[in-house]
Amino acid sequence: MANKNVIWCDPETLSKDLKGKTYIVTGANSGVGFETTQQLVKQGAHVVMACRRVEAGEEVAKPFKELKGSYEVMQCDLATLQSVRSFVNSFLSKHNRLDGLVCNAGMVNMDNQPKYTTDGFEITMAVSFFGHFLMTEMLLDTLKNTDSARILLLSSVVHAGNPKNRYEVHLDDLHWKNRKYSNFGAYGEAKVASVQYALELAERLKDTGITSYSIHPGWARSNFGGGGNFLIKIAMTIAKPIFTLLNFSDSSWESAQTSLHCLLSDEAPKHSGKYFSQHSVLYRDKECRKGGWPMKSPNPHANDLDTAKKLVEISRDLVGLKINGAHV
Ligand SMILES: NC(=O)c1ccc[n+]([C@@H]2O[C@H](COP(=O)([O-])OP(=O)(O)OC[C@H]3O[C@@H](n4cnc5c(N)ncnc54)[C@H](OP(=O)(O)O)[C@@H]3O)[C@@H](O)[C@H]2O)c1
Repeated sequence: MANKNVIWCDPETLSKDLKGKTYIVTGANSGVGFETTQQLVKQGAHVVMACRRVEAGEEVAKPFKELKGSYEVMQCDLATLQSVRSFVNSFLSKHNRLDGLVCNAGMVNMDNQPKYTTDGFEITMAVSFFGHFLMTEMLLDTLKNTDSARILLLSSVVHAGNPKNRYEVHLDDLHWKNRKYSNFGAYGEAKVASVQYALELAERLKDTGITSYSIHPGWARSNFGGGGNFLIKIAMTIAKPIFTLLNFSDSSWESAQTSLHCLLSDEAPKHSGKYFSQHSVLYRDKECRKGGWPMKSPNPHANDLDTAKKLVEISRDLVGLKINGAHV
């Protein structure tokens, strides 16, 4: 049964001819990323599927061969800056246009202890934010050279926190070295960073034709949270049918609607930098539960452009885009 709460893309958006257009979708082998990719290929686009596991990407993409568009799977581990650099360099060696960059991949560390990447970053923040940050910055020239290119950052309702505890990015401790670790806290902060980055990009790129968006896709029956220990896996298995019965959302297809709207609709570019959310009963601020395309995040930190600019400046340094004070 169709979920009456879901905000759906209009049929014109989902029937546009995307022949000649090129997109990158990270985490394209699963969940929301897979559905987004499939729809783009259906509409005739060429999609570069940026996957941590190439074989998983190739496997799920087999049915795409019957569709109007085309795809290629390229390896990219967002937890490793070198892998992101190699991915971008391979992409640029083959492509000279990019109509949309969908920073979709994400994970949450299911342990109570922080896990660090080889670059020394806390892993949830590394995958959700820093890897996508480096990828986006390296692709900006190509995005600028493509008419009306769009950048999507997948956030989450979790970023909103609650009126007593709003997540905020700790610029003085982005790697969780000097405070008690919270795995969902790390996820919440990474998702605030995504909302802030979309805001900052919109301001920086306002004269370039590029637009940016942050997104809460809704609750998707995807593989999200599947990497936990035995107890977490059991909890997720029990939660999924209950969430479905509660009519949260039925499928990753429903959760791909917001990404497809931001990527393809004529309406979205009027709201560059804004937060687009599917409905969610998980908002602690009741007035937000119906979602909105766009809506204002109830978390004031997410709407703080000054902090967003500082985050970008620090991040440029951390991912190696600034050497001796100069931007490279
Ligand atoms: N599911 C929800 O209800 C929900 C709610 C709010 C927000 N979101 C957000 O929506 C986005 C998509 O979630 P989903 O539900 O579709 O999750 P999913 O089914 O678990 O898919 C996540 C994707 O991210 C990829 N990924 C994980 N670690 C990676 C890494 N180090 N490098 C590159 N790719 C990596 C995964 O690759 P592997 O298959 O190789 O692990 C997978 O393709 C995420 O950003 C998530 O935070 C989801």
